[in-house]
Amino acid sequence: MPTLIYLIGFMGSGKTTLGQILANVLGFDFVDLDAVFEERTGRSIAVYFAESGEEAFRAAERLLVEETVLMEKTVVAAGGGAFLVREIRELMLNRGFTVYLRLPVSVLASRLRSSRNRPLLYDRNGVTLKGGALHGRIEQLLEERSPLYEQAHLIVDIDDQSIGRSVDRIVDEIQKSANKPG
Ligand code: S3P
Repeated sequence: MPTLIYLIGFMGSGKTTLGQILANVLGFDFVDLDAVFEERTGRSIAVYFAESGEEAFRAAERLLVEETVLMEKTVVAAGGGAFLVREIRELMLNRGFTVYLRLPVSVLASRLRSSRNRPLLYDRNGVTLKGGALHGRIEQLLEERSPLYEQAHLIVDIDDQSIGRSVDRIVDEIQKSANKPG
C-alpha cells in the first residue's frame, strides 16, 4: 500500500480538512505545505506573493515538495498550484500516490467567497473578487488546470459526498492500488 499520499486540487477543495481526517484514519502523519511555508518564512502567502512574487513562491514550494518525497506514512496537502509545475508534478507522481479532489466551479465559488489569503483570487486592490467575477476567475483557472490535475492517480468527485465517504473511498482505492502490478 502506498504510504505517501499527496492531496491536490483547486483552492477551497478541502485538501487540509480532508487530509487531516484521512491521516487519522490511516494512522499517518499530516503535512500541510502552505502552513509549513508560512511557518518557515514567517509571512502569510498573500504577503509573500505581494513582496516576492508568484515565481519565487513556486520555487520555494518546489523545495518544500522535494523535502517530502522520502516521507512515509504521511498525507501531504499541497497548495493548489503545486501540481501545475512540471518538476513538482513528476516528483509527486513518481514518489507518491496522488489524489485530485474535484469539485464543480459553483461549489468552489461559494466556498471561496470569504477567502482571505489567496492572492490569485484578488482584484487589483488586493480584495477577494466577488460574485460573477470570482466565479469567472475560478472557471478560467480551472479550465487551464484541470487537464493537469486529472493526471493524478485517483480523482475523487466530492461535490455531493460527505467528507467521511470521500475518505472511505480514498482509503479503499489506496488499498486496491497496492494490489496492482507496477
Ligand atoms: C494556490 C493555492 C494556495 C496557495 C497559493 C497559490 C494556487 O493553496 O498555495 O495561494 O495557485 O492554487 P490552497 O490550495 O491550499 O488554497
